[in-house]
Amino acid sequence: MKVGFLQFKPKLLDIDYNLEKIKKLIGKAKADLIVLPELAVTGYLFCNTDELKKVSENPYDGKTAVFFKTLAKKNNCSYVVGFAELGEDDKIYNSAMLVNPEGNVFIYRKTHLFYEEKKWFSPGNTGFGVFDINDVKVGMMICFDWMFPESARSLALNGAQIIAHPSNLVLPWCQRAMFARSLENRVFSITANRIGTESRCDKSLSFTGKSQILSTTGEILAKADIDNEALIFAEINPKDADKKDINEFNNIFKDRRKSIYNL
Ligand code: ACM
Repeated sequence: MKVGFLQFKPKLLDIDYNLEKIKKLIGKAKADLIVLPELAVTGYLFCNTDELKKVSENPYDGKTAVFFKTLAKKNNCSYVVGFAELGEDDKIYNSAMLVNPEGNVFIYRKTHLFYEEKKWFSPGNTGFGVFDINDVKVGMMICFDWMFPESARSLALNGAQIIAHPSNLVLPWCQRAMFARSLENRVFSITANRIGTESRCDKSLSFTGKSQILSTTGEILAKADIDNEALIFAEINPKDADKKDINEFNNIFKDRRKSIYNL
């Protein structure tokens, strides 16, 4: 199976521009799954709820969903992309959609909101679901979810073989921490980060690039630079993620001592 990520710099608050840019960067690229960054179609640094509301979308028939349904069918590829979701409850979520070539849309809402996201978004309530694309089990978590090992562990316990991880990383540790998330859960992870700096409303955030694809033992299968736009792929066997034995005595799930943990 061929998987990849698109690392790029979105333009703040301009969904049409960003979708056009994504279309050019992805083109007719042949792959089975491509992961894009968190809030890939809106940008990240919001100043108030009104401007966020203007770029929040219905997850099933908003511009972003329609665009990716068309692209997924045309390229026979599934995509994971971050967007601002206007929920049926009128709340706004920092979400990711997984869109497959059959036109199905699966939604994950970010569980652990970072910094001022807490001012704009409602905390996610979907939990860590796992979705089937051509018999491959894909789960999603978004950016700062990496800081909570429970996110990746929940996805792995739910059967994920691949963790799709749209990100807008600003702290320096995630790419290294994802080594442990992949290794300790024996899952592939695809962290799709953005690049560039956003400065406005007296704030400035720089995003750290270095998107990566990691194997089930944490090897780097593909990696981007800190500041280049890049579409990069790796060939993986998702069934490697079903091997939870470390040796004939140890299994990462069976050896868990739930009665001992304070969780
Ligand atoms: C982040 O969660 N966007 C840092």
